[in-house]
Amino acid sequence: MMEKNIALITGVAGQDGSYLSEFLLSKGYDVHGIIRRSSVDYRERIAHLEGKPDFHLHYADMGDSMSLVKLVGEVRPTEIYNLAAQSHVQVSFDAPEYTADVDAVGVLRVLEAVRTNHLEKTCKIYQASTSELYGKVEEVPQNEKTPFHPYSPYAVAKLYGFWVVKEYREAYDMFCCSGILFNHESERRGETFVTRKITLAAARIAQGKQDCLYLGNLDSKRDWGYAKDYVECMWLILQHDKPEDYVIATGVQHTVREFATLAFHYAGINLKWEGEGVNEKGIDVRTGKVVVAVSEDFYRPTDVVNLWGDPTKAKTELGWNPQTTSFEQLVQIMVKHDMEKVAADHVAGVMRTNLAEYLEKGLVK
Ligand code: NAP
Ligand code: GDD
Repeated sequence: MMEKNIALITGVAGQDGSYLSEFLLSKGYDVHGIIRRSSVDYRERIAHLEGKPDFHLHYADMGDSMSLVKLVGEVRPTEIYNLAAQSHVQVSFDAPEYTADVDAVGVLRVLEAVRTNHLEKTCKIYQASTSELYGKVEEVPQNEKTPFHPYSPYAVAKLYGFWVVKEYREAYDMFCCSGILFNHESERRGETFVTRKITLAAARIAQGKQDCLYLGNLDSKRDWGYAKDYVECMWLILQHDKPEDYVIATGVQHTVREFATLAFHYAGINLKWEGEGVNEKGIDVRTGKVVVAVSEDFYRPTDVVNLWGDPTKAKTELGWNPQTTSFEQLVQIMVKHDMEKVAADHVAGVMRTNLAEYLEKGLVK
């Protein structure tokens, strides 16, 4: 009988962790996930998986090597997906030391947990690297050979993670690799990332529950894909015969302004843009009201403004299709979800967290 594959996912309750869990369960894996203690014990993205026989949750923390060593020893995974991170770039300016501990040293802790348990020959490791490594970009589009130029405390921490994975691959002959993933979004995206902030606000404004959406740099460009498509690639990277690093992207780029225009369109509001820089406004063509405005509160000390990935290597070597979900489909999926969510919250009379209001006023970045 074939041995069952055992996956350990750090960051299992995050956007990617939830989709990856579903994907690996569908492939017959035993899935173990790391969660951390929180005062609110409801894990929205994985609530539907809890209680399934092949899905197991464990408390541990990326800042606590002992918890990682112990857990890796108990679970004895055949594959580790290291997704846990303080993943918000803006927040990394506010909490740089914590970000470095979790996003940089945390990676080392996972690698050492594998070595301490003598699993280096049987356990493959996927590291969630990022297009933020290209930062103040040195060429467009970016591929595996493009030099890195990290441009935030988050990116600098992730750069350590990338290099320590490469180092352990060469020094100890371990099967550990990075996926250099460009931005990927979904209806499960955290509410303070720009895409989800826009789709939720468009839904709220369309349903008369918010007046205006405040954003930062509208000219920033991203290569946005669908998270559900990207988790397949994480798995493909570990199934390849050689451990290598791959750029995962769609190869298509849009501005924040273009994302907002399309999201509002799908929510039933057509926008026209007037003004420039901090004075730029998005105006509802039908009512003449300003529904999008710029706030300097959302400008970053250094901003990455031109991410555009070249997924040729993943396409040719892994057989991955970067165009499974188009940009238009992604925006539509997110808006449809949030239109229903906002309406359901209304019907149920639920006072959601004050996050939407905080976001509107620029109190949370
Ligand atoms: P996410 O939704 O923010 O999920 C991150 C997960 O990490 C959360 O479940 C979080 O736990 C967990 N975590 C944070 N600190 C931890 C700690 N100290 N110990 C244990 N767990 C901890 O992020 P995502 O979008 O799924 O991204 C997954 C990974 O890919 C991250 O490493 C991110 O940096 C990287 N990445 C993301 C993108 C993207 O566009 N989404 C692109 C490139 C790379 P809580 O649920 O308790 O907060
Ligand atoms: N969050 C946010 N909020 N971003 C805004 C806003 C706003 O109101 N207005 C404009 N932006 C701009 C940011 O300045 C940035 O240039 C761009 O929108 C995208 O911001 P985010 O959605 O916060 O994502 P990110 O690109 O900084 O980081 C995400 O993608 C990385 C991969 O490139 C995260 O998921 C990272 O974890 C990931 O590594």
